Amino acid sequence: MVQNYMQIQQQYSLLRYNTFGIDVKAKYFMAFHTIDELAEAIAYFKNEDKLILGGGSNILFTKDFNGIVLKNEIGGIELVHETADEVIIKIGAGQNWHQLVMYCVNNGWGGIENLALIPGNAGAAPMQNIGAYGVEIKDVFYNLTAFSFDDGVCYQLDNAACNFGYRESIFKKELKHKVAITEVCLRLQKKPVINSSYGAINQQLELMGIQTPAIADIARAVIQIRSSKLPDPSVAGNAGSFFKNPVISLEHYKALLQLHPGIVGYPLNTGEVKLAAGWLIEAAGWKGKSLGNAAVHDKQALVLVNKGNATGSDVLALSREVINTVDEKFGVLLQPEVNIY
Ligand code: EPU
Repeated sequence: MVQNYMQIQQQYSLLRYNTFGIDVKAKYFMAFHTIDELAEAIAYFKNEDKLILGGGSNILFTKDFNGIVLKNEIGGIELVHETADEVIIKIGAGQNWHQLVMYCVNNGWGGIENLALIPGNAGAAPMQNIGAYGVEIKDVFYNLTAFSFDDGVCYQLDNAACNFGYRESIFKKELKHKVAITEVCLRLQKKPVINSSYGAINQQLELMGIQTPAIADIARAVIQIRSSKLPDPSVAGNAGSFFKNPVISLEHYKALLQLHPGIVGYPLNTGEVKLAAGWLIEAAGWKGKSLGNAAVHDKQALVLVNKGNATGSDVLALSREVINTVDEKFGVLLQPEVNIY
């Protein structure tokens, strides 16, 4: 029997636990604050499907979850190593990501200021290798601790072991549904190198009248840009970019460029080209359009929003229409970035 301090809810609404604002129920729901609590719950619910939930900011529920939802609330930020140039900090997976960014900025530790205002918790950040404005978490990632459901043991994975890619990691592939990330360690710089290479940041810094930005200025610029383009989930439910930016061959890109001279693409060092899905969706006529209670955001077409009372199926139906139209017009298949349940 699990300890009675562990509160298990039954037929529990997940409405408050996903930023899309979808009202589905979990058969069981429990928050955990330590690895021991998690271990006990995993052993107790060994025959149930399991879902570890962080901030719920990258998930679309399309039906009730017929198993146990375990909400990760392992908190804390700890300085574990310091030299003249850098720090290594250990963060509980349930720590809010943006609060962590601001804590680091306020301490003068550089490396994640470009990732300000990304919703969600620290534990989910490595799963999809969160990235924005020229930085990905893999650039500062040191290691993490993951609790394995199979044997109840905690393992440490370093940067190479996580197999990071664009919005990808081992946690979305081989280790999917097999582990819970409990702690994350980042390596940050005490003499920060400013990364303002992304066009929108430079423009924003200019507007702010800043010529030699400090990390706090970068964070402020990013917060400004994000707030102007991305919908606030407390106003309109969403999960940030719904799709990944698709990667296509150089030949395909050249052919598309002939037909659509305005198309936005970034050459990769693999020789392929990453297209801006937001541009494709806008050019396909979907920006600001709705289907039922779901809509394509009017300021950033990569984001789908809940107009109020949308079901997960409404959002899924809209995403399929968008995928079909973009495929018909450009021969490019968009893939969701959001985890669909
Ligand atoms: N664009 C359009 N129409 C749109 C949206 C974008 O034409 O409706 C064009 C823009 O003008 C720009 C290009 O597409 O030329 C890229 O747009 P943006 O800078 O907004 O970035 P993105 O590629 O659409 C990615 C991330 C975002 C991240 C930004 C900034 C993905 C899937 N998304 O979006 O991440 O904030 O870059 O670095 O890679 C998220 O993952 O939830 C997220 C918001």
